[in-house]
Amino acid sequence: MAGNTLAPVEVISHSVEDTQRLGRLLGEQAWGGEAILLVGELGAGKTCLAQGVAQGLGITEPVLSPSFVLLRQYSGRLPMYHVDLYRMERISEVVDLGLDDYIYGDGLSLVEWAERGTGLFPSEHLLIELELLSETERILRFRPRGIRYREAVDKLQISAGQA
Ligand SMILES: Nc1ncnc2c1ncn2[C@@H]1O[C@H](COP(=O)(O)OP(=O)(O)OP(=O)(O)O)[C@@H](O)[C@H]1O
Ligand SMILES: [Mg+2]
Repeated sequence: MAGNTLAPVEVISHSVEDTQRLGRLLGEQAWGGEAILLVGELGAGKTCLAQGVAQGLGITEPVLSPSFVLLRQYSGRLPMYHVDLYRMERISEVVDLGLDDYIYGDGLSLVEWAERGTGLFPSEHLLIELELLSETERILRFRPRGIRYREAVDKLQISAGQA
C-alpha cells in the first residue's frame, strides 16, 4: 500500500529476460541519485538485474560483472555506478575509492553484495533480495526505504503484472 514505505513487493522471475525486464523498468523510471542495494547468493541474478537497469538508462555498453574492480561506471541518460563488494576485504578499500561521492551523487548506484557494506549507504534506498527457486526461477523481493522508492516499486509492480 502506498504510504507504507516498508512493505516488500515480491515478484517471481521465470527467466533471465524477466529479471532484465524488471531491471529495465527500474532504470526507465530512475530520477537520479538512487541507491539500489542487491543481496543474494552467487548466481542469484544481481548482475542480470543490473544489465536491465542499464538498458533502462539507455546504456549501450555491455554491463560486465564488476567483481575485480569494485566499481564500474557507465554513462547513459544518467550515470550508473555498478559496485560489487564480493571481493572487498576492508571497508577502507571503498572509502579510499571515494564510494560516497558516487553513492551520494546524482547518478544511479547499484551495489552487489551490499550486505558487506552495511553502514555505507543512505538510509533511503531500495533493497532487492534475490533468491534461487530453481535453475531458471528467482524470487525478487523489493524492499523500498523511503517514499520515492515506495512509489517506484508500486509502479514496477503494476508494470510487472502486465507481463
Ligand atoms: N530467472 C533468472 N534470472 C536471472 N538469472 C537467471 C535466471 N534463470 C537463470 N539465470 C542464470 O543465473 C545466473 C545469474 O548470474 P548473475 O551473474 O546475474 O548472478 P549474480 O547474482 O550477479 O552472481 P555473483 O554473486 O556471482 O555476482 C546466470 O547464469 C543466468 O543465466
Ligand atoms: Mg554479479
